[in-house]
Parts: sequence; structure tokens; C-alpha cells
Amino acid sequence: MHNPVMVREVLDTLSPQKQETYIDATFGAGGYSRAILEKADCSVVALDRDPEAVDRAKSLKTQYPDRFNFFPGRFSDMKKIVPPLDYDGIVFDLGVSSPQLDEAERGFSFKHEGPLDMRMEKQGLSAADVVNTFDEKEIARILWVYGEERRSRAIARAIIAKRKETPFVTTTQLADVVRAIVGFERPGFDPATRTFQALRLYVNEELRELEEGLKASEDLLKAGGRLVVVSFHSLEDRIVKTFLKEKSGGLSHASRYLPELPQQEALFVLKNKKPLAPQEDELRSNPRARSAHLRWAIRKEK
Ligand SMILES: C[S@@+](CC[C@H](N)C(=O)[O-])C[C@H]1O[C@@H](n2cnc3c(N)ncnc32)[C@H](O)[C@@H]1O
Repeated sequence: MHNPVMVREVLDTLSPQKQETYIDATFGAGGYSRAILEKADCSVVALDRDPEAVDRAKSLKTQYPDRFNFFPGRFSDMKKIVPPLDYDGIVFDLGVSSPQLDEAERGFSFKHEGPLDMRMEKQGLSAADVVNTFDEKEIARILWVYGEERRSRAIARAIIAKRKETPFVTTTQLADVVRAIVGFERPGFDPATRTFQALRLYVNEELRELEEGLKASEDLLKAGGRLVVVSFHSLEDRIVKTFLKEKSGGLSHASRYLPELPQQEALFVLKNKKPLAPQEDELRSNPRARSAHLRWAIRKEK
């Protein structure tokens, strides 16, 4: 099962109260939803784009029939999916869940041999489609932009050479090609990590999803509502940081060579300039927590 990350800090910041209603935008295995429901006599509306989350949500629905509801779908579509209420809080726990990573069939992990898939929704373009059909330049761009992979060009070249012999079908086929190019970096770090991250983000359009999901939260939260976001890598964290900075009246410095963007009306009060990190005990007991960052803000008057 999934060991929820920074659940203590999520409860502290979301601060569940009796009769309030929250959105858990990334249900996963339900760790946050359950913790929120246990904390106060409140309600939770949860969503997830993974069809396998539907079944996982059933036991929580049985336990809390009046306080819990699950809706399948993407958080970018949140405004169309959830009941039209003013919410007291919204929480995002980005990325993939342990059930997704651990199930070889889903093709997210270089640790398990499985089909090179990585689609959270189990439909649309797969990671195999990308590496088998995209041209070298586009593959290199994806690895660079979404994986910050310095060897992106060399890896793309090796992928093209390899697929001429045999198309990519499994996760290990791809991981082996990448490992041969990148080589050993440091103990405990797999050189295929950045390439797998890049393909996952690209296939699932995760960064666009995040931008749209944050924008939707603006309208769904009531004054005093808490927005809490847990992210796992620098690309996600940068989007959250920039969004919250701009929306809390800070100036955006997209580039020092460009004029500053006009100051926006402040819609949020930023609660932490530096992201919160997991505590020592959690870092010891849950390796997934290692790269977690939590940022949060409170919605101002509408
Ligand atoms: C890190 S897990 C969440 C784990 C959850 N907090 C728990 O305690 O079990 C992230 C989940 O978000 C889902 N997800 C990712 N992007 C999504 C999106 N754009 N819309 C809806 N769900 C998404 C994934 O399918 C995955 O199940």
C-alpha cells in the first residue's frame, strides 16, 4: 500500500474542522482522505485520474458514506467534476502512488520489468509510443525539459539506434540503454531516474495539469480556505512556488532580461516562503518522502 508522505504537516496546514469540506485532488490509495476524515467530523471530496483508484475508494465510502465522495477524473477538470461548493481546503499530493510504482504492469518503474507504459489513465500515448515513434530531436527535448537530463542528446541518439534493431517494449530495455549512456552517478541513485521522470511527466502532461489544477483551486476555495501542495521534484515545486508568489501579490521574475510582469491582485496569503520538508523520523521510515516539499497558502476574500 501507499505510505502517505508528510501527512502530519498536511493535517497541520489543512487543519480539518468539524462540518468543513475538503478536496483531496490526488486520492491515490486514500492516505490523506482517510487522515482528514479521522481528524475531524468533516467531509472529503476526492478525485484521481487513475481508473484503479475507483476500487480503492470504495472501502472509505463504506466507512464514511455521508462524509466521503470519490469522483474519477483529472484535477485540471476539477471545477466540472466536484460539486459546486465553496471549499475549506484543497490538497494536492503530486506524482505517482506506491501502488502505481510497484505494479510492474503499469510500466512506471525501472526497478520492475513491465510494459513501457506509464499512463495514469491507461489510455492515450504511452512511453513506448514516445521512444518508438518520436524523432531524435523531440526525444532529446523531452528528456531535457522534463527530466533536466544533461545527457539527453546522447540518450536520444542511443534510443534511435536501439529501436532500429528492436522496438522498445519493456521498462528494462529502456533503463538498460540509459544506464549504458549515463553510467554510475552515486550510490543508491539509478541513472535511468531522470529519463523515466521525463517520459512520465510528458505522457501524463503533469506540469500542465498542475498549472490548471492550481488555477481551478483559486475559484473553488472560500475565503480562509487552505491550499496545500506536496511536490516531489524541482519542476513541480517551481510551478507551485511561482503560482503562489504571483497570487499572493509578489512580483514574478520570469527572467531578469524581461520586464517584470504587472503585479496581480493578491488572492492568497502565502504561509511559507521556504517549503516545509519531512521530519527526520519520516525520512528514516519512508524513503519516498526524501524529496518532498510542502507549500501552502490561505485564500483571501473573494
Ligand atoms: C502521490 S499519489 C497520492 C497519494 C495519496 N495522497 C495517498 O495518501 O494515498 C498521487 C496520485 O495522484 C493521481 N494524479 C496524478 N495526477 C493527477 C491529475 N492530474 N488528476 C487527478 N489525479 C492525478 C495519481 O494517479 C496518483 O494516484
